[in-house]
Amino acid sequence: MVPETANEYCRNMLMPIITSTLNKTRWVLLLGMLAIGLSSTSKPINAEERFIPWQAKNFAITTPLAGLKGDPKRGRKLVAQRDKGNCLACHAMPINEEAFHGTLGPPLNAIASRLSPAEIRLRVVDQTMINPMTVMPAFYKDPVTVNRIAQKYIGKTILSAQEVEDVVAYLASLKQQTSQQEVQP
Ligand code: HEC
Repeated sequence: MVPETANEYCRNMLMPIITSTLNKTRWVLLLGMLAIGLSSTSKPINAEERFIPWQAKNFAITTPLAGLKGDPKRGRKLVAQRDKGNCLACHAMPINEEAFHGTLGPPLNAIASRLSPAEIRLRVVDQTMINPMTVMPAFYKDPVTVNRIAQKYIGKTILSAQEVEDVVAYLASLKQQTSQQEVQP
């Protein structure tokens, strides 16, 4: 059979080739997609960054986040770190080597003589539960409930559970206004 028109040529000569190639590649494509699907679901979730729900009671969170223990020395670093807590931008703290402590929030020099660790934890986690109008960022709020945030924080909390516990441990060590109480770096 000699094909007469381009249309017929397509139907008679090319289509069988295309369908048989597709038949073969279909399985390759299907398996490929399955593999991609499996690999993306089995990708391990970074346990450190996963949000673990907390519960506030009487303006406090009694249980440490994810049952973790904080380290005051790491906490001291985190409160000054600009891409982490950056608490110094708004609060004064006994961290003498850093200049320019902010005054937007109250000084935290003796915070532990006013608030318990559980009360401090809620304020770091979500100050809006104390004052809905606050300018202080909620450092460990359920990422699902947060919107209009920077790309790199989508689905994440500003501080991880461990980092919050470290910060709480540091603040809980600030009992008196004296610099002797300082946790050494
Ligand atoms: C943008 C400014 C800002 C930043 C950043 C900020 N805070 Fe605050 N914070 C405030 C303000 C303002 C208050 C006063 C309470 C209010 O607004 O309702 C406050 C209150 C607090 C309190 C309660 C103090 C009290 O006497 O009751 C604690 C504890 C606290 N902040 C800790 C932190 C820590 C820890 C960080 C960093 C991880 C931090 N804050 C970052 C502004 C800030």
